[in-house]
Amino acid sequence: MRISRCVVFTFIVTLLAGNLIAQNALPSTNLALTPPMGWNSWNKFACNVNEQMIESMADAVVKSGMKDAGYQYVNIDDCWQVSRDANGKIVPDPQLFPHGMKAVGDYIHSLGLKFGVYSDAGSKTCAGRPGGLGHEYQDALQYAAWGVDYLKYDWCNTTTQDAKASYANIRAALDSAGRPIVLSICEWGTAKPWLWGNEVGGNLWRTTGDIQDRWQGRIEWKPGDCCSNGVLDIVDQEAELYSYAGPGHWNDPDMLEIGNGGMTDTEDRSHFSLWAMLAAPLIAGNNLRDMRPEIHDILTNKEVIAVDQDPAGHEGQRVWKNGDVEVWSKEMKDGSRAVILLNRGSAQQEISVNWEDLGYPTHVSASVRDLWQHKDLGTFTGKFSSPVASHGVVMITVKP
Ligand code: GLA
Repeated sequence: MRISRCVVFTFIVTLLAGNLIAQNALPSTNLALTPPMGWNSWNKFACNVNEQMIESMADAVVKSGMKDAGYQYVNIDDCWQVSRDANGKIVPDPQLFPHGMKAVGDYIHSLGLKFGVYSDAGSKTCAGRPGGLGHEYQDALQYAAWGVDYLKYDWCNTTTQDAKASYANIRAALDSAGRPIVLSICEWGTAKPWLWGNEVGGNLWRTTGDIQDRWQGRIEWKPGDCCSNGVLDIVDQEAELYSYAGPGHWNDPDMLEIGNGGMTDTEDRSHFSLWAMLAAPLIAGNNLRDMRPEIHDILTNKEVIAVDQDPAGHEGQRVWKNGDVEVWSKEMKDGSRAVILLNRGSAQQEISVNWEDLGYPTHVSASVRDLWQHKDLGTFTGKFSSPVASHGVVMITVKP
């Protein structure tokens, strides 16, 4: 058999090009292939951060079993920074972080966890600390030197800045610093980041204003300036955005409020289930050093986490609604469905899911497993029904 020179030449060129692409892959390629999981200081501690608290929280991620359940990132939110020095270098608060940020990162890494920090695309952070504007490349080098693995980048004090360009700029700066760093776009959904977040190398983007520790109810920050949200308000705002999520780029309905006391355990369980349905980043926001067993069991429910972390990366959809009752479905990699029966109402109700709403023919029989009771419920044909508590969910998998 004679192989023409042309074929050989094409083969060699293809090999070289492939090699070149692999060598030139950006440090941020292949980050967050499933929704990031971790802990962040803001929802519970706001500006009351310091190295001792952060390190003890990292200990708690390990001791509580959360690390085993998949939580990885320990993220310091706003207020770790106080000023810039004469060279423009960002200065961590020396009272709160006397050993510096690298020491905190080293401690977190020594536990096999990853380290996150927070800054802002504008001149100041939301708490009025120095922002990143004009210092993007300098900050990115600094973060890389500290061993930062995750950057949450907020949107306060950005005046006339263009959101897409600003986030593209910080991603380019992070990549040029040479370290793989997850970029969390915290723009609150104003400029529809789901339309451009993936293109600029964002790994997750907030879809709404801040979460509040309550089941339902939006509050305007100031007239016309929207909003802080309860769990259901966020779910409703994100419900139509499912097509924008996928491996490496996720809609972010904000960090978890589970265990912070504003909701009942039933509501916290629904909150966690719905976030898993939305393929949301699971960033706990409570005091992990001091959790009731009920809260621990919610945050470490491995069957619900497996729905969130399914490698196909489909965001779930609301497939049926009638007044206060809803059915949500998420297509899993193996072709099965994770399903939530959600009761938003104030009394217990019976809710059914019809196979047709899951994309299965009615005659199919499927095994059903309850992910909160950790129990196989048997084989069902055409539909499954269950009573659901007020503000509660029944979460199941349906496998034909
Ligand atoms: C904004 C963000 C919050 C938090 C605070 C910190 O409100 O949306 O998640 O980071 O800023 O100031």
